Amino acid sequence: MNFLPASHPLADGRTSDAPLIRALRGDRPERVPVWFMRQAGRSLPEYRAIRADHRMLDACVNPELASEITLQPVRRHGVDAAVFFSDIVVPMRLAGVEVDLVAGRGPVFAHPVRTAADVARCRAEFTADRLRDALDQVREAVRLTVARLGGTPLVGFAGAPFTLAAYLVEGGPSRDHLRARTLMHSDPETWRELLEWAADLSGVFLEAQVEAGASAVQLFDSWAGSLSATDYREHVAPASRRTLDAVRGLRFGHPLREGYAAHAATVPMIHFAVGSGHLLEELAGVGVSAVGVDWRTPLDEASRRLGDTVTLQGNLDPAYLGAPPEQLEEHLEDVLRRGSRAPAHVLNLGHGVPPETDPAVLTRIVELAHAR
Ligand code: CP3
Repeated sequence: MNFLPASHPLADGRTSDAPLIRALRGDRPERVPVWFMRQAGRSLPEYRAIRADHRMLDACVNPELASEITLQPVRRHGVDAAVFFSDIVVPMRLAGVEVDLVAGRGPVFAHPVRTAADVARCRAEFTADRLRDALDQVREAVRLTVARLGGTPLVGFAGAPFTLAAYLVEGGPSRDHLRARTLMHSDPETWRELLEWAADLSGVFLEAQVEAGASAVQLFDSWAGSLSATDYREHVAPASRRTLDAVRGLRFGHPLREGYAAHAATVPMIHFAVGSGHLLEELAGVGVSAVGVDWRTPLDEASRRLGDTVTLQGNLDPAYLGAPPEQLEEHLEDVLRRGSRAPAHVLNLGHGVPPETDPAVLTRIVELAHAR
């Protein structure tokens, strides 16, 4: 167990009472906190202006640019959280894996990882220590951002081991992740080693963001929805838990006496997977403060399934962002009403902001949610 520095925003009080942090701790602040997955990105003209001169993965490791892009949606929309500008493949790339992000396609790996020998090579060559040594710019980007955010919390994030492994095994995007799921069943031991390695890289990435000042983290499992609950539980959940253990080990606050470290506060964690209505119990089961729900499962039903014990995040259907204002407002009211069943609610989308979204619509949602 490690203690965060006294200057961390959760330790010095800057963000500890922010609406997002209170909601993630199970409280209902005066106003419902709201942020949007993928709020930093393609929907903003000011983002596109920066990106005209910089490649995605270069921007991610440029502290000034990454910080500026992270702050853009906070300034524009007045959201209750910033989400760190990065991508799920950044830790892989910094550990040495040859990967590129191809616009309109997705992450493309030069060498797909398919055999026991491929996995052994990854584990030997692209180690967590190598990643740790390559994180200076990411830490600097987080520090700059947090210094500029004041009382608004920064959410750090990482890709979940299954999603990363699915890309690695396939070599790029795929519809059903068949090769990855076949490896899981045909060679469970190699699969476990692959997931543990991916889990450690994501864990190191999260840990660095929190140490540098992030006040919460979100684990994104874009493709876990393609798994049955049994497969998720047996072959994936242990690795996601392992990633989050890196954050669970970080505490803040100073226990009065030695041996009381377990009573110091932990950093809130959000777990989100797309198409995961059948996995809610499993997502909560890895030990998190909040579960992100996609737009397919109503929040009241999700809360009932979880015994009304976990903060829920979500779950506006991104399709409504392009609908007329009356329909959008009705949908927003419905989501807030259903969300009121959960112990606490963080308003968000049920997946990321679509690139063609009119940013004014996002600003309007924040205003409406805050005005209630
Ligand atoms: O809330 C967040 O910002 C979430 C963080 C996140 C990003 N990417 C940030 C990002 C997550 C979870 C991803 C996942 C991801 N990355 C996926 C999985 C699908 C999903 O939506 O969950 C995929 C396919 C990628 C790959 C990717 N990322 C591509 C192909 C590109 C475009 C490359 C380019 O040159 O623009 C990205 C860019 C990216 N990732 C941005 C952000 C904020 C910036 C541009 C954008 O909004 O897409």
